[in-house]
Amino acid sequence: MLNLIQRNRKASSVSYDVAMKTHLAGAMLLAILATTPLPSQAQQAPSRGQLLYDAHCIECHTQQMHWRTLKRARDWDTLTLQVRRWQGEAKLAWSDSDVQDVARYLNETIYHFPRAVSLQTP
Ligand code: HEC
Repeated sequence: MLNLIQRNRKASSVSYDVAMKTHLAGAMLLAILATTPLPSQAQQAPSRGQLLYDAHCIECHTQQMHWRTLKRARDWDTLTLQVRRWQGEAKLAWSDSDVQDVARYLNETIYHFPRAVSLQTP
């Protein structure tokens, strides 16, 4: 008899545990949803890369003349290199993250090169 009661106790504490975990998972999901921008919002705001590109590069580059004749940008690394080169030509003194942001913008809109894993963090 005592044995049975003990077993019951154990069973109810297990289900409490499960309920608690489910609750935590729910709370975490809510936290993630609350901090993730909706896709529509993300589309409306131009990225930093786009802003930099529009301000400093577009005078020479249009989508059509995205200048594949020489094919200097062949992958993510050479694309980054070209962005670095061109900001240098324009004497902009961009930081590494500026270069990355613009390369990412061009890659997302034009090139679609696969990128190294270490470069994928925003
Ligand atoms: C003075 C005009 C001019 C400006 C300003 C300019 N570019 Fe260029 N860009 C060119 C020309 C012309 C080419 C193609 C010939 C070459 O690569 O030498 C080119 C090529 C490139 C390429 C390689 C294209 C490919 O697919 O191989 C990239 C990437 C690029 N530019 C990015 C930029 C970025 C980023 C900026 C702004 C910092 C910029 N350019 C500003 C004229 C310009």
